[in-house]
Amino acid sequence: MSKMRAAVLKGIGNIEMEDREIPTIGAGEVLVKSMVGGICGTDIERMWRTGTWKFPTILGHEFAGIVTMTGEGVTNVVPGDHVVVNPMLTCGVCRYCRSGHQNMCVEYDYLGSRSDGGYAQFAKIAAKNVIKLPEDLPFDIASTIDPLVIGIHTLTKADIQPNNTVCIMGAGPIGNFMIQLAKIYGAGKVFAVDLMDEKLECAKKSGADFCVNITKENLFDVIEKETGGLMADVVIESAGAPQAVENSILVAGKQGRVVFMGTPHRDVTIADKVFEGILRKELTVRGSWCYDYKELPMDEWRTGIDYLHSGKIKADHLITHRFSLEEADKAFEVVKTRDKYFNKVLIYVSENLPV
Ligand SMILES: NC(=O)c1ccc[n+]([C@@H]2O[C@H](COP(=O)([O-])OP(=O)(O)OC[C@H]3O[C@@H](n4cnc5c(N)ncnc54)[C@H](O)[C@@H]3O)[C@@H](O)[C@H]2O)c1
Ligand SMILES: [Zn+2]
Ligand SMILES: [Zn+2]
Repeated sequence: MSKMRAAVLKGIGNIEMEDREIPTIGAGEVLVKSMVGGICGTDIERMWRTGTWKFPTILGHEFAGIVTMTGEGVTNVVPGDHVVVNPMLTCGVCRYCRSGHQNMCVEYDYLGSRSDGGYAQFAKIAAKNVIKLPEDLPFDIASTIDPLVIGIHTLTKADIQPNNTVCIMGAGPIGNFMIQLAKIYGAGKVFAVDLMDEKLECAKKSGADFCVNITKENLFDVIEKETGGLMADVVIESAGAPQAVENSILVAGKQGRVVFMGTPHRDVTIADKVFEGILRKELTVRGSWCYDYKELPMDEWRTGIDYLHSGKIKADHLITHRFSLEEADKAFEVVKTRDKYFNKVLIYVSENLPV
């Protein structure tokens, strides 16, 4: 068998199934049989609005699978190993890579955007970018490790202290992981904010103490009432919405921390009185990008795997839709407009759909 099925993005909004050659691997690379891949918020943009770096591209950067072949010099995995894929391939030699900050790499490749990703039966990957999984971790759950690790990295920037009030803007998959993580890291009250009741019901299952639908309630008033006017010690923007950016500054308490990780994909304007809050409240404002690769002081990827494997973090309740690889176009129709509820949408590439 030298051909494989692949869902190929040929232009904005145009994904088609094709027979492709199975990639041949070289030294330091592995061939991974892709089992399950998730659709990320960024894939929705790539599919429907921005496109990928070049067409055609096989989408999919959040995926887990089985190593089927290893190239010369590969020592970290053997054929048969279950793995999750870190989709960001960094150069290893720039000043940021050499300083242990690979997420700042100046010359990186990214599976499913700059080069082919996991919505195909097989993917060629640098061995250093696959991480071994416990064999009893189901592939659908394992495919959510990437967004979980994004959340873990974001929370390292938030410096949550015991009993801190935390407000998470946006109850998408990453927001839901961060609600759960905030509780693990010792948060007190956790507020989840979204525009949709179904998303907030999901946030409740993730452990949010207060769920605020800002189309129905005034966010500032709710948090003011519930915190006795102290507001939030930590605010995370994971909605990628200009309104949520402004609200993040608005609801942060004095000397609070605000972490921006959502990608708005459009201009953000902030009212002058709200902006002044950064100064007057002496806020710490930080950005968060992807994940760390270093193992000390904490290994973000191993932590994500362990949390899901132990059940400390739950992903089941986030999965709303499941499609086969042949139905990739249908999967992207579900996420095209945001008027109907979805959360994590999975594509079962080689794994059978559950009955
Ligand atoms: N910084 C990074 O490294 C990184 C990595 C991956 C994804 N992202 C971005 O992080 C964000 C979260 O990812 P996701 O996959 O969970 O996204 P998602 O699109 O599934 O979830 C975003 C949620 O925000 C809600 N929302 C929209 N407008 C809102 C508003 N004004 N106030 C409150 N909630 C609002 C939506 O209803 C949705 O539930 C996205 O913007 C994504 O592009 C960033
Ligand atoms: Zn992603
Ligand atoms: Zn680099």
